[in-house]
Amino acid sequence: MKIAITGAGGQLGRDLIRVLGPVHELLPYTRQQLDVRDEEAVVRLIVETQPDVVIHAAAYTQVDQAEGHPEDAYMINSYGTRNVALAAQKAGAKMVYISTDYVFDGTKEGLYSESDRTNPLSIYGKSKLHGEKFVEIACERFYIVRTSWLYGKHGNNFVKKVLELAGKQPSLTMVSDQYGSPTYTYDLALFVAELICTDLFGVYHASNRGSCSRYEFAQEILRAAEINGVTLKPVSAAAFSLPAARPDNSAFDDTAIRNSGLTRIRDWKSALHDFICNDLER
Ligand SMILES: NC(=O)c1ccc[n+]([C@@H]2O[C@H](COP(=O)([O-])OP(=O)(O)OC[C@H]3O[C@@H](n4cnc5c(N)ncnc54)[C@H](OP(=O)(O)O)[C@@H]3O)[C@@H](O)[C@H]2O)c1
Repeated sequence: MKIAITGAGGQLGRDLIRVLGPVHELLPYTRQQLDVRDEEAVVRLIVETQPDVVIHAAAYTQVDQAEGHPEDAYMINSYGTRNVALAAQKAGAKMVYISTDYVFDGTKEGLYSESDRTNPLSIYGKSKLHGEKFVEIACERFYIVRTSWLYGKHGNNFVKKVLELAGKQPSLTMVSDQYGSPTYTYDLALFVAELICTDLFGVYHASNRGSCSRYEFAQEILRAAEINGVTLKPVSAAAFSLPAARPDNSAFDDTAIRNSGLTRIRDWKSALHDFICNDLER
């Protein structure tokens, strides 16, 4: 298949290229090559190149910064997604929109499934949810793939940050009362690779299975990296006054994946160990 990818220079974008590149013809667009805010350029490029699938991984991802720059978040995540969705529909392509666990408010006890009520707490979450709505309205054949707590080989992420700090400090303070599902971008790319070969359109929760707090995530990172002698101190999220509110719980249930008979994504601890032992450059 011919597959266009927006945000191809990002953390997920680069693993999508790694997974899909050997099998498909790719049209990967970095921000420099295609700014999704530019409706005319987006439509022209996608209609001209006629991809079978458009994977929209580009986004404004600075969650805290978005609170002070809502116009940027909405222009990229909402309006930019609208542009990509319109272009995909016009080209007759299937559309994959990568969305987020931050569309939920975190008040549910237990795991979030695809049919749960959305209620984003932050500008970032709201702008991504608007993106979902545009995709649903504009596209006939779409997959909305919500994911969470991404990390991988490329880009700055929590795993790299913990390892970097552990090399400098004897103790690290980690939030222990917010729960989510850490997700390895390589595993997410494998899931997307399988999904786009089907006509199983709809909304998916696609994260590594299981959940943890940032404190437990950091514990497992140090364990996988065989780092001893660094103390982790649990702290409530309330102790950090970050600009953007995060959900207290955004752990995912993979109901749609199970119901569709797609391959379930592995558990978060196995993925993390695999990443640290086999993929991370240290
Ligand atoms: N990271 C997470 O924990 C997380 C969690 C849930 C969902 N997601 C979603 O997963 C997707 C991938 O995230 P990621 O972690 O790979 O993020 P990332 O590393 O920040 O990648 C996003 C990419 O989008 C590009 N971009 C920004 N503005 C653009 C624009 N106007 N036009 C075209 N490209 C633009 C960025 O380019 P520059 O770097 O040049 O700005 C960057 O390469 C996003 O949709 C995100 O919302 C992420």
